[in-house]
Amino acid sequence: MAFDPTRFTRCDRAPAWQALQVHYQSIGRGFDLRQAFAGDPRRVEALAIDAPHVLGDLSKNLIDAQARRLLLDLAQQCDLAGQRDALFGGEAINGTEGRQVMHWLLRYPARGAAWRPAGIERLQSELDEVHHTLDAMLAFAEQVRADAAITDIVNIGIGGSDLGPQMAVLALDAYAQPQRRLHFVSNIDGHELQGVLRGLKAENTLFLVASKTFTTLETMTNARSARDWFAAQGGQDVARHFAALTTNVAAAREFGITTTFGFWDWVGGRYSLWSAIGLPIAVAIGADRFRELLAGAHAMDAHFASAPLERNLPLQLALLDVWYRDFHGFGSRSIAPYHSGLRRLPAYLQQLEMESNGKRVDRHGEPVPFDTSPVLWGEPGTNGQHAYFQMLHQGTEVVPVEFIAVREAAHQLPGHHTQLLANVLAQAQALMLGKSDAGGHRHFPGNRPSTFLLLDRLDPSSLGALIAMQEHRVFSSGALWGINSFDQWGVELGKVLAKDLAPRLESGDVEGLDASTAGLIQRLRRGNG
Ligand code: F6P
Repeated sequence: MAFDPTRFTRCDRAPAWQALQVHYQSIGRGFDLRQAFAGDPRRVEALAIDAPHVLGDLSKNLIDAQARRLLLDLAQQCDLAGQRDALFGGEAINGTEGRQVMHWLLRYPARGAAWRPAGIERLQSELDEVHHTLDAMLAFAEQVRADAAITDIVNIGIGGSDLGPQMAVLALDAYAQPQRRLHFVSNIDGHELQGVLRGLKAENTLFLVASKTFTTLETMTNARSARDWFAAQGGQDVARHFAALTTNVAAAREFGITTTFGFWDWVGGRYSLWSAIGLPIAVAIGADRFRELLAGAHAMDAHFASAPLERNLPLQLALLDVWYRDFHGFGSRSIAPYHSGLRRLPAYLQQLEMESNGKRVDRHGEPVPFDTSPVLWGEPGTNGQHAYFQMLHQGTEVVPVEFIAVREAAHQLPGHHTQLLANVLAQAQALMLGKSDAGGHRHFPGNRPSTFLLLDRLDPSSLGALIAMQEHRVFSSGALWGINSFDQWGVELGKVLAKDLAPRLESGDVEGLDASTAGLIQRLRRGNG
């Protein structure tokens, strides 16, 4: 269905935007968390939101009741609900590519849906295809799991064809079969593939070539080298040892892979872990658990679609993001997952948010007069505490922190989990309270904001919900900014230039290049004779 973006107001053209500016200048920037808690015993109640599988405590953020009211006005004036309906109605909201955005359909159950978006019946044939492919892919995953000869699975893919599955496989390690190893090769740097292949035997290895387009330089280069290695090792039965996960099944066949699982152009790469791209996750945790991951995400879809705006967790996080980025001027957000299984979550969220919302023009191609995506960065706790938390507590710049904690551990080691939880609480508390009884080097200014996301346990359902929540949050801030969150033209230029430079590195031809690049090529070629 065609999408008409002119019916939506860009945030800076909404009356609430000016009201927010006035509020920020007069009161908002002087807001103090300690006073806010002292003055309002119901602050936590008002700002803690219980969404499916995820509790979001937003109370330690620099926001008062008036800013919250105005931000809700902003959401209403930008018709965020209407934009959400366009997403769930299958409109082609990815305007620059003329595509629908329907990763949420990948987790829409065949029966027993928690909510029915208006017009879902128009998407019945897509939904049937989704379930047909899902059943086939999960049957294959179970077949691999039952095949004792396959001890190593190598996923070859990059960006969305790597980060999502890798992040989820690490996060759900407690649910994986211990005898099977999953490896992820993404970089065109041959050291990575070589390092993985070194320990493998062809007859025990399954390669999954994951690429939405099946044209990506890194993935095709690694896939060719893997195929050569397999042949050189005497490997036979490519159908058993190679599978492709792609929207471009014809290209995969041409490459020589006959076992293929498809998906569709309405699934963005960074939103694709719910599709055939999720096969490594399914191999790791099994079909039933993979369905739980989808169900957790679907529960969050239902929450996003139907919870009132003031209790809608993805939306409230997005409003806070806009408040911080465009009024406070905070340039980054630090992600601090206090669970080592979530160690690739910051990298995953970097792609999700920065590739989606790192845009400087709106949907009409007009430059926007405000800031969009912040920089996301982070490491798991407690490691970050012993590295860069110094800057978070006492640096000159305020960086909102997003803590993610898990109530129950999946290990039995005594003492560790209590200490871990004490540390995450302590860091959030220290950022907020600061310490003013000492001066100079020992002074902590405090009043530094953080959000606290809490899961009961890290399992497929809660991970699904957590990721879907982040997707909808990114959608919501992008919708308020009036940008297209679903294209990524910014990655193209470097690809084109690399194509020109590769033969120049071989030949030494620097004609027409800028002096810096020419000089570096000459330097890189030294020793080439
Ligand atoms: O270059 C960026 C990008 O297109 C990402 O958006 C995508 O996730 C990644 O490359 C990999 O693309 P593909 O799955 O088509 O190989």
